Amino acid sequence: MSRLKIAAGNWKMNKTFEEGLELAKSLSEKTSANGALMILGTPFIHLKSVCDALKDSDHIKVAAQNCSQEISGAYTGETSVDMIASVGAEYVILGHSERREYFKESDALLASKTDRVLAKGLIPIFCCGEPLSIREAGTHVAHVKAQLEGGLFHLDEDSFSKIVIAYEPIWAIGTGVTASPEQAQEMQKAIRDLLAEKYGKDVAEGTSILYGGSVKPGNAKELFSQPDVDGGLVGGASLKADDFAAIYGSF
Ligand code: 13P
Repeated sequence: MSRLKIAAGNWKMNKTFEEGLELAKSLSEKTSANGALMILGTPFIHLKSVCDALKDSDHIKVAAQNCSQEISGAYTGETSVDMIASVGAEYVILGHSERREYFKESDALLASKTDRVLAKGLIPIFCCGEPLSIREAGTHVAHVKAQLEGGLFHLDEDSFSKIVIAYEPIWAIGTGVTASPEQAQEMQKAIRDLLAEKYGKDVAEGTSILYGGSVKPGNAKELFSQPDVDGGLVGGASLKADDFAAIYGSF
């Protein structure tokens, strides 16, 4: 079964409004549809204008980097899924390790956010991945399994089949240390096996599993050619139009 190939950029807290809009326009000019999807995960401030600028694009979609688990109301500083959908974004990145660590997002909270995103008809890009200590202890599969069980495995098969997963080993994020293609493949195969156990082979084979952690133009092709690596969730290299266009061109 063929599954969607995706190059997703996570801008994190980078780019002023003008710079972000310029980056989105530049990516639109520098790339054309190649069968894969490009997703731009922009800060909230940029979402509407980036969506508007890309509304005629057939290969670039837009993601928020977070959302509230609440529907609406007195939650100062929060952003709801209704707001995100109302400007035209279609994806929401959930459970990034930076949010888990710095903002103490638990598996239970992420399960609620996942439900909220799906109920609005948006698509979660659900992040998982282990810190270096867990990798060195050799318990990384169990660690990621617990994240999937806590955040996603309450979903029924129909809901789960909409999810995109991003495996991002924390030791490879922003460090310049990329997981080797073999390490990425081994882990992502293990994730797909877990999905098959829980939801059956068809759902597992249909789920896009992205790799994140120091993806660059120079390593994207080899990573993306692994059988269980369906693309990337890219931080630093998604901030430069030429680099991210090259990564998109690596499929
Ligand atoms: P880098 O590509 O900068 O390592 O970041 C990866 C990441 O965290 C994407 O969500």
